[in-house]
Parts: sequence; structure tokens; C-alpha cells
Amino acid sequence: MLQTNELIKVEDLQVFFHTDEGIVRAVDNVSFSVVQGETLGVLGESGCGKSVTARAVLNLIPRPKGRIHNGRIWLARDGKQPLDILSLRPYGRQIGRIRGREVSIVFQEPMTSLNPVHSIGRQIMEAVQLHNRVSKREARQRAMEMLDRVGISAPSQAVDKYPHEFSGGMRQRAMIAIALSCNPRLLIADEPTTALDVTIESQILELLSELKESMDMSIMFITHDLGVIGEIADRVIVMYAGKIVERGLVRDIFHDPKHPYTVKLLESRPRVGKTGELSSIAGSVPSPFELPAGCYFSPRCDYAHERCRQEPAEIEITPEHTAKCWLFSEGGSGIDAEAAVN
Ligand SMILES: Nc1ncnc2c1ncn2[C@@H]1O[C@H](COP(=O)(O)OP(=O)(O)OP(=O)(O)O)[C@@H](O)[C@H]1O
Ligand code: SF4
Ligand SMILES: [Mg+2]
Repeated sequence: MLQTNELIKVEDLQVFFHTDEGIVRAVDNVSFSVVQGETLGVLGESGCGKSVTARAVLNLIPRPKGRIHNGRIWLARDGKQPLDILSLRPYGRQIGRIRGREVSIVFQEPMTSLNPVHSIGRQIMEAVQLHNRVSKREARQRAMEMLDRVGISAPSQAVDKYPHEFSGGMRQRAMIAIALSCNPRLLIADEPTTALDVTIESQILELLSELKESMDMSIMFITHDLGVIGEIADRVIVMYAGKIVERGLVRDIFHDPKHPYTVKLLESRPRVGKTGELSSIAGSVPSPFELPAGCYFSPRCDYAHERCRQEPAEIEITPEHTAKCWLFSEGGSGIDAEAAVN
């Protein structure tokens, strides 16, 4: 079930949306784990299933359109049997105790996540009081400590301010303060720095790394930005059209990428300015209603071959490094420029 140091283990997760236009296979047979104390980077272009995977970990898939068709998400618990998060009622008490206290999430746009009519302090206090029996005074004290911890100056004044009185970077820090107010074991950060400029982004990444160490937690960091992955992640999973196509240590992904998609992402990375935006890779992610047969990356792949009309298996290159591509099956040695047929 769970290895000793695994905190979360996602097994064969399938999340589909049943829309008027048809079925969107947003996450299709995805398995991975987050190890205690690590930062797992989740990389991929828009629409690849990163956020849906994150929401599934908190059993927050919008129903009835969204449905979990298959899968288990095991959460390790001290001295107890692991718990399958997906077996819990989505709005029941048990999952309520996990959200915020064991696993927390920070979203991309703080203005839509923060309540504009409540002070920042009140929003942190609500999170604290939801999971701890503490007085209002103690919760307020905790709110000020958290604001201080995330680098907001003069916390005794900041605690009474409203979201519109904060800058974008401060709002993102406040979101992090709310998410971490109950000492979660896993923080899911879903593109938390995309709306920020490069300098503020760097400061937030540094803050998250420091907090991860001091609070002894793990982070699942979602981004479409390779530069951010390089700065923060220990291991990486690369997603494409709802599937994991490559996984490895951050140095495997940057210095020895195997999957043609990852290779293209790296090649198309701008070298100057805001690093790593993935917008320049040719072609686009297929529409979920017109997925190609076999390998979903085949229309954009320079190495596509007849056999790619069948779905490739995930091949282990080293125990830490895998690629879901025919180039590595049956003794294949990977990318060979002459093998390119397009
Ligand atoms: N509520 C929903 N109803 C219908 N389809 C949805 C819903 N939420 C997500 N999807 C679809 O699921 C797929 C995966 O979406 P997801 O939000 O996980 O992408 P993402 O990788 O997070 O992209 P981005 O980088 O743009 O945030 C997409 O095709 C998306 O359109
Ligand atoms: S399976 Fe085929 S089409 Fe898909 S990435 Fe590998 S070589 Fe390219
Ligand atoms: Mg997303």
C-alpha cells in the first residue's frame, strides 16, 4: 500500500467530466506518490490535468459533472492504517478534518480565494479555530505569528487589514499563512506564483522552501514554468493530456530528459526574461474530444511511428526515472535524430 516514507500515494486515478459536448478524461490512470519532506513538481501545459489531480487529493472534484471513476489516494497516518481519501464522503466530517490540517492548498489567484469582506486576520483565525480548540485571543495571536512567519511586516497592524489593502505578493503570502496555519503535512501549491512578477515570485519560492524545512512538510508544486520547477522541486512528474508521460529527479528532467514532450519543453524554454514559460512549443494539446489514437503526443512528435498508434507503456529507465514512450520499449535506446519521420 504505502512505502515507509510515503505521505500520499495516488493509485490509478481517473477523473472524468461529463459535459454536454462529451466526456473529458481530465486525469486518466495517474499514479504517483509524495514522499515525506520532498517537493514534488507537477509540470505540464494548460489543460493537462494538473489542477484536477490536485483537487482529487482533497476529494474536491466538482460533482455531479466531475466524477472519480477509479483510483485510491492513500494518506499515511502516524501509528494508524493509511486512509483512502477517496473512500470518504466529499463533504463529511472525516475529510473536513484532513483539509487544512493534514493537506492544504494554495491557489493561483489569491483575490478569488480570499474573502474581500473579511480581514486577513479573521480569515486566518477561522482556519485555526476550525481545527483547534482555542480562544479567539489565541487564534488572533496565532494569526499574527503566521503573518510574521510569511514575512509580512508589522503583523499586529496587518492582521486587521482587508485583502484589497494588500499588494499581490502580500495577498499570496496571506494565502500561504492561511494554508499553513494548522501545520499541514502536505501543502499543494497550484501555480501560486503565476500572477506575480519575477522578483516577488522568487521571494515566494524562497519562503516556501524555508517553511517546508522549518515546518517539516512536503510540497506538491504545480506549474507550467520550467524555471520554477528548477528552483523548487526535488522530483518531477510531467503531465500531458491527463497522463504522466515522464517522471524523474529534477536533474533527470533537466539534464537527461527522455520523453520527446519533455525534450521539446526544454528546447523551447526562453533563456532570458521570465524563465520557462511553455508557450512556444509548436502545436497544441489535443482537444479532450478529439484525442489521437495511441500516444496523445503523436501529432506533435518528431519521432512518431506506426506503433505509436497504440498506447505506449511507462518504461523504467532507472528506478527513479520513467518515460511513457515507445522509443524506450523492447530494447529501444531513446531519441535518435535520424529516426525522426516528420
Ligand atoms: N469543472 C470542469 N468541467 C469540465 N471540464 C473540466 C472542469 N475542470 C477541468 N476540466 C477539464 O479537465 C482538463 C484538465 O483541466 P485542469 O484544470 O486540471 O488543467 P491544468 O493542467 O490545471 O491547466 P492550467 O495550467 O490551465 O491550470 C481540461 O480539459 C479541462 O477543460
Ligand atoms: S510514443 Fe511515439 S509519438 Fe509518443 S512520444 Fe514516443 S515516439 Fe513520440
Ligand atoms: Mg490548473
